[in-house]
Amino acid sequence: MTPITLDFSNMVAERLGGGGVEAERLGGDLADRFRSAHESVESARHSGEMGFFELPYDSVALRRALDLADRVEGRFENLVIIGIGGSALGARTLRDALLGPLWNERSNEERAGRPRMYILDNVDPGAVLDTLEHLDLRRTLFNVVSKSGSTAETMALYLVIEGLLIEELGADEVGKHFVFTTDAESGTLRSIAEAEGISSLPIPDNVGGRFSVLSPVGLFPAALVGVDAAALLAGAARADEYCRTPVLRENPAGLMATLLHTAHSEAGASIHVMMPYSERLRSFSFWFQQLWAESLGKAHDRSGNVVHTGPTPLPAVGVTDQHAQVQLFMEGPLDKVVVFLAVTGLGQRDVSIGTHRASVPSLAYLGDYSLGRLMDAERQATAEALRQGGRANMTFEIPHLDASTLGELFMLMFVATVYAGALYDVNPLDQPGVELGKELAYGLMGREGYDPPEQSDPDVRWRLERG
Ligand code: PA5
Repeated sequence: MTPITLDFSNMVAERLGGGGVEAERLGGDLADRFRSAHESVESARHSGEMGFFELPYDSVALRRALDLADRVEGRFENLVIIGIGGSALGARTLRDALLGPLWNERSNEERAGRPRMYILDNVDPGAVLDTLEHLDLRRTLFNVVSKSGSTAETMALYLVIEGLLIEELGADEVGKHFVFTTDAESGTLRSIAEAEGISSLPIPDNVGGRFSVLSPVGLFPAALVGVDAAALLAGAARADEYCRTPVLRENPAGLMATLLHTAHSEAGASIHVMMPYSERLRSFSFWFQQLWAESLGKAHDRSGNVVHTGPTPLPAVGVTDQHAQVQLFMEGPLDKVVVFLAVTGLGQRDVSIGTHRASVPSLAYLGDYSLGRLMDAERQATAEALRQGGRANMTFEIPHLDASTLGELFMLMFVATVYAGALYDVNPLDQPGVELGKELAYGLMGREGYDPPEQSDPDVRWRLERG
């Protein structure tokens, strides 16, 4: 199998110029800095804090997810994932990357009888109703995903759907339409599952939402829609293996984290763009955004000092964004690094552009090529244009997009994130910054023990005065 490669030559001063790092530092101070980040991650791994490292080897979790998928297979036309943040973005990424963004529009035959897959990760009532009205609830399985088992948005959606199912099917049938993926022991979902015999899958205690796609959170929906869940884990195990080395030059997750952190701390590149050249990986860039943002954007360092640190991850997609954000990347502030994802090589579907307009001089050059070649040429050209403009960028080349390479990519990003956590000196596993907003929303909703927000001053507001 051809491995994923990382081309970071456009990060290196010898090629990029001023904003790059001198190549010799990769064997010098940056290698030392990475070695100590690696050591701190290894010690967190061995103390059991970073449970995602063990997911590729969790054959019990895999078996459970496959068995449950087998039990419900053929009974449902639709699978709806109800979750938010890390509990939803992984499933969307799996669907889009491996089945294609148009999976739900394919016929039953084209889907080989596998269910359509929807993700409800917003409480916007119009969008929720649009989705639910579109589905035959009698033929729909709802997978409620929440590590805590108590997230307000997820619980509200669960209650709405349960109410609709009670009306439509009667209370006795409702439980058969739910699978809960939640903490093994605690939380409201776990209690309901146990009291009412609802099928459920456990999320390991030491795996948080954004690190959970390789747990039953992603494995169950993957298995149900026919994705090779075992291959997903095998790919992740491969990345875990080659990322074990403390030698910077040999560790792609280490290189990604160290080069992005250095570009930020030394050259002011605080915006980290994730730009796949693949429509199927569009969702991946949003999955990565949440992982990088929630893990690294922190008020305090690990010693408790106030630091307000963290890069801003920005999703983009090639080639579309060449006509949108690339102008800014090329000529705007020198505050960005672009991480390209290129899907190269065999297995990709491709289409020739065609020579039927060869007599039109402005179109003739396209005729001998395919869309795949055009896309790849544009990616290379964009990377080179950025380099010539002194704009740092690096490229992960993925030989073939399948369950195995996607699993590998997920694990690479997890490992890069925890290395980056060590380099930024923050805890990548918590998210204290989202608590205050949650508490104020509880206050507004009248939940006991919580205060509502201060109201804004009605005079500090523009409105069109009518006579
Ligand atoms: O990545 C995270 O940890 C968060 O984004 C959570 O996934 C999100 O807040 C949802 O939490 P829960 O899974 O407990 O419902």
